[in-house]
Amino acid sequence: MQVIEAIEALRQQRKKLPGTLGLVPTMGALHDGHLALVETARSENDSVLVTIFINPTQFAANEDLDRYPRDLPGDLRLLEQCGVDLVFTPTPEVMYPARYQTYVIVEDVAQGLEGKQRPEHFRGVATVVAKLFNLAQADCAYFGQKDAQQVVVIRRMAYDLNFPLEIKIHPTIREADGLAMSSRNRYLNADERKAAPVLYRALQVVGAAYRSGERQPKILLQKAHDTLRTEALAQVEYVALNDARTLERVESPTDTPLLLSMAVRFGGTRLIDNCLLPLEFNDYAGLTATLGAINT
Ligand code: PAJ
Repeated sequence: MQVIEAIEALRQQRKKLPGTLGLVPTMGALHDGHLALVETARSENDSVLVTIFINPTQFAANEDLDRYPRDLPGDLRLLEQCGVDLVFTPTPEVMYPARYQTYVIVEDVAQGLEGKQRPEHFRGVATVVAKLFNLAQADCAYFGQKDAQQVVVIRRMAYDLNFPLEIKIHPTIREADGLAMSSRNRYLNADERKAAPVLYRALQVVGAAYRSGERQPKILLQKAHDTLRTEALAQVEYVALNDARTLERVESPTDTPLLLSMAVRFGGTRLIDNCLLPLEFNDYAGLTATLGAINT
């Protein structure tokens, strides 16, 4: 496994990789959610490139850039065990040198949900991912369902800017009690950690209602709120139902695939989670076809 910091070295080493290339962009502090993406990339491609870069342009001034967890030696050990070929670990100066001034703005799908709470966030994500797509020249790129809106923004960007690659969406990897794995879970204190699986329970309750025929958005959302309310520590920022492909808000019954998503605060920690209706939680092919298909 080679670890590379510089753009030119990456270009040279990339050219030497045989066959198809799978790209997995990350910000490090790797957990089993990230590793599931890496393992899938490993099983579907001849070569695998993982990037570790805490991208400053996707953090607002009041967010956790400075205290975002970092563990490069630990990450490299895990990636080596997964059989990764190349790891790209640029510094901010490599990605954004002096006088940097080019950004990628994706419009409608980046506006609501997380985009509303974090106005500059997806501009930073789309910009860094476009740069990584250009550098990697990969055949497939792997992203997690955990950040469903991020996937929709990246798919839109890849289609609109004609990036010739496939986007694959891996289901969310969870702790035994249902909490979606996240680098930010370590900020939760013991009581908050105990309360946090309520997000998963809320998704399950709505999924069960949907499967038994309930289609009324108001009622589905109400069921999520009722479940979240059972945990006193949960402060709901939003719960939303959107068309899974366009992210338009859904206000009347429909049979098109829906994204049910939520952001909930526990003390100072903000957690997000989502599911696709009617998909089961572990449907990799269904997720990739619904959120990842570039041909729209
Ligand atoms: P990061 O938060 O490090 O996540 C890297 C990838 O792992 C993302 O595609 C994310 O959706 C996925 N992921 C995180 N937790 C997961 C889980 N529990 N199950 C499955 N997949 C999970 O997302 C980013 O970094 C950045 O925005 C990035 C795309 C790298 C651009 O900077």
